[in-house]
Amino acid sequence: MTSQVPTPLLPRRFAGKVCAVTGAGSGIGRATALAFASEGGQVVVADVDEAGGQETVKQIEAGGGEAVFIRTDIASRADVKAMVALAVSQFGRLDCAVNNAGITGGVNAPTGDYPEEAWTKVLAVNLTGTWYCVQEELAAMLPQGSGTIVNVASAAGLHGHPNNVSYAASKHGVVGLTKTAALEYATRGIRVNALCPTGIETPMIMDGRLNLRNNPEALAKFSGQAALKRLGRPEEVADVALWLCSEQSSFITGHALAVDGGAFA
Ligand SMILES: NC(=O)c1ccc[n+]([C@@H]2O[C@H](COP(=O)([O-])OP(=O)(O)OC[C@H]3O[C@@H](n4cnc5c(N)ncnc54)[C@H](O)[C@@H]3O)[C@@H](O)[C@H]2O)c1
Repeated sequence: MTSQVPTPLLPRRFAGKVCAVTGAGSGIGRATALAFASEGGQVVVADVDEAGGQETVKQIEAGGGEAVFIRTDIASRADVKAMVALAVSQFGRLDCAVNNAGITGGVNAPTGDYPEEAWTKVLAVNLTGTWYCVQEELAAMLPQGSGTIVNVASAAGLHGHPNNVSYAASKHGVVGLTKTAALEYATRGIRVNALCPTGIETPMIMDGRLNLRNNPEALAKFSGQAALKRLGRPEEVADVALWLCSEQSSFITGHALAVDGGAFA
């Protein structure tokens, strides 16, 4: 007689939880939004790219999950306020936020030659935008006395990044923002952590500044930087983001966690 092994149910760590993800129209953000939904979370999908964001909602709904999209440029305080307001008006609260949206300057230049326009833009999105998110999310979470915030920084938030100074400075700033907010709000029920990925196979590195999709040699070199000798998958970062948002990491705050395949071990 063959025994029927039941398919294990996905854990539903986020059932009844409201989760906002910025930059959820692509890459790590989309994988995180899908992961929250697959574990029962009600998801606010925020992105400046409407088509990408709508596609994420479509994928969540196709899997039986619940999500709503709002076009959000995190560099706009008003947009970020509207994102948090939507979480509260649509779903009643905000429990988890993954502030993932980010850009590179699209420029390869040493610090002395780095163009001011790219510097200003990257700082406005990656650092000021993430700060807007944290401030507005705190405003929703503090009255509840609970919440978890994960800011997506980068390995470039922990180490120098030649020819990419605006990105490295902004991501170091995100780590400082994370640690400071963690210390300030720990006793009020809110944990704040950062993720520091590198080498994750998303449009940012495949098509962006490094254009690895069209450069097999650079792709091989980049992949080889990880001890695991491969690129990471967006889902592998999403898993860590969810863990940091879950009760399973209840004694962790103010941490900047590398998700880098051992690149900097
Ligand atoms: N891919 C990697 O290897 C890697 C490494 C280190 C850090 N990161 C960080 O991970 C995060 C996600 O990157 P990804 O690799 O998934 O890139 P991605 O380009 O695939 O996705 C980024 C998403 O952010 C959105 N976005 C950009 N500017 C925005 C803004 N002003 N407001 C709202 N949304 C905006 C984009 O439309 C896009 O959907 C970023 O913060 C990035 O810096 C990625």
